[in-house]
Amino acid sequence: MADCDILIREATIHDGSGGDAYLGDIAIAGQRIVEVGPGLQFRAGAVVDAEGLTLAPGFIDTHTHDDTSVIETPEMLPKISQGVTTVIAGNCGISAAPVRLRGEPPDPMTLLGPAGFFRYPRFADYVDAVRTASPAVNVAAFAGHTALRNNHMDGLDRAATAEEIAAMRADLAEALDCGALGLSSGLAYANANAAPTAEVIALTELLRDRQAIYATHMRTETEGILDAIKEACEIGLGGGARVVISHLKCAGIANWGRSAEVLEAFDAARSSQPLCCDCYPYAAGSSTLDLKQVDPRVEITITWSRMHPEVAGRSLGQIAAGWDVSQLEAAQRLQPAGAIYHSIAEQDMRRILAHPATMIGSDGLPHDSRPHPRLWGTFPRVLGRYSREEKLFAMAEAVRKMTALPAETFGLGDRGRIQKGHFADLVLFDAARIIDTATYADPIQRAEGIAKVWVNGVLTYTADGPTGQRAGRFLLRSGTSNNR
Ligand code: ZN
Ligand code: CU
Repeated sequence: MADCDILIREATIHDGSGGDAYLGDIAIAGQRIVEVGPGLQFRAGAVVDAEGLTLAPGFIDTHTHDDTSVIETPEMLPKISQGVTTVIAGNCGISAAPVRLRGEPPDPMTLLGPAGFFRYPRFADYVDAVRTASPAVNVAAFAGHTALRNNHMDGLDRAATAEEIAAMRADLAEALDCGALGLSSGLAYANANAAPTAEVIALTELLRDRQAIYATHMRTETEGILDAIKEACEIGLGGGARVVISHLKCAGIANWGRSAEVLEAFDAARSSQPLCCDCYPYAAGSSTLDLKQVDPRVEITITWSRMHPEVAGRSLGQIAAGWDVSQLEAAQRLQPAGAIYHSIAEQDMRRILAHPATMIGSDGLPHDSRPHPRLWGTFPRVLGRYSREEKLFAMAEAVRKMTALPAETFGLGDRGRIQKGHFADLVLFDAARIIDTATYADPIQRAEGIAKVWVNGVLTYTADGPTGQRAGRFLLRSGTSNNR
């Protein structure tokens, strides 16, 4: 009889492929799955009876701002408690590296923490720091366009010059050579909005020969969204890069009901270039407090404020009424600040969530004092609410959107599937019970129904809490030659 470290018996297996679940055993030796099948015979160091429970590949959170959290709070409780075993950081044009700050981080880099959290002038420094911190989850990361701009420009309200672009390209090349997934941008934000399409293409050109990815928080998600999709695709083609549209949504009341039209444009583009998107399962967005998005018809909740920390969790309308000023005036007084915008129609969100090219990404904001509940609830909510309760898609499809599809998109070769030879990133859960419990009113709450989570073969989380073991690795972009 062969030996293994862990034998998980009689699990209902969703292998990530999207196919039907089957009953089987899994043997783990070291970091990897060594056998999958019914009635396995192994002499095991530990046996886990999984009867009645569902086993899936560990979830991949495709859209995070966990860049500094994986170092500052390596237990990563908001994510591991959902069954997430890999986080993709560096989204929306902001990243922890390569960054050389002169003063305060520009908006929205504030989402990644205070100035003191930015200690990685080169991407290589960041990779080293993640490895030293040894977080509970695996980490892969983009380099952010806004971060690169801020390294080289004295003001961010204009296009970069040829010299500045050359300097940004040097930073990006270093990041890519050290394993960055690609480039992200956040052209909707004031500190990147003045960048013309050509500035971004000049950077994405570096992606072509490296099979790297362009992830975009598009120039707009409101009325001009179709033009923004067109621009995203142009930038992807210009750089020969696969495009990931971040948190695809129809934002703003004037834009509600347009998801079918948006997905039609998305599908048309997909027929001629590699393109997919991510989405979070909530009808509200969250970011820094943007004066342009203050609209008295939209409920806005303040998640943090530097000047008035005591108002976190209250609505902008209430705050403005209390101060006897307009919402815009109140928003100005709160700056810098963060907000939740209830500005998405549930029906649009569902349609986008259900699209077969949509991956799940939390977009959780780990440093907010009263975060959007997506930080703690995204994955169990997709499984429990949208799959089991509302039957928006089958459980197998929900699992595929969080495992094999992102692993394929981001080139995470030996992950995202339950398969012999793959890394043992696994989550065992109760499919009848799994559900998010974090709410807007009470957002810091662990989900229910997660039984056990393994990262690289190491039991990291159980229903009783974290085990204290942290086995996450930095995942270099596949093909990175500088395999340090
Ligand atoms: Zn974004
Ligand atoms: Cu984001």
